[in-house]
Amino acid sequence: MFEVELKDSGLVLTVPADQTLLTTLRRANVDVQSDCEEGLCGSCEVRVLDGEIDHRDVVLTKGERQANNRMMTCCSRARSKKLVLAL
Ligand code: FES
Repeated sequence: MFEVELKDSGLVLTVPADQTLLTTLRRANVDVQSDCEEGLCGSCEVRVLDGEIDHRDVVLTKGERQANNRMMTCCSRARSKKLVLAL
């Protein structure tokens, strides 16, 4: 479980262990594009402003992962307790 704060609205959402970030965002009526929902295509990417990402996609390169500034919401999660997203 981790939290995400949405920078634009100030909304804070909890992502349960059994739910993806993408699902959590959609349940809060936040519209994020998606296609494969398996970490393969890159369409569900969002920018990350703060927090440490647990990358679980196969889209980003090693360097892009280390930059820690964007993530695939369909599969990636957080290593820190909270992420701040540019949404
Ligand atoms: S929907 Fe394809 S990587 Fe997330």
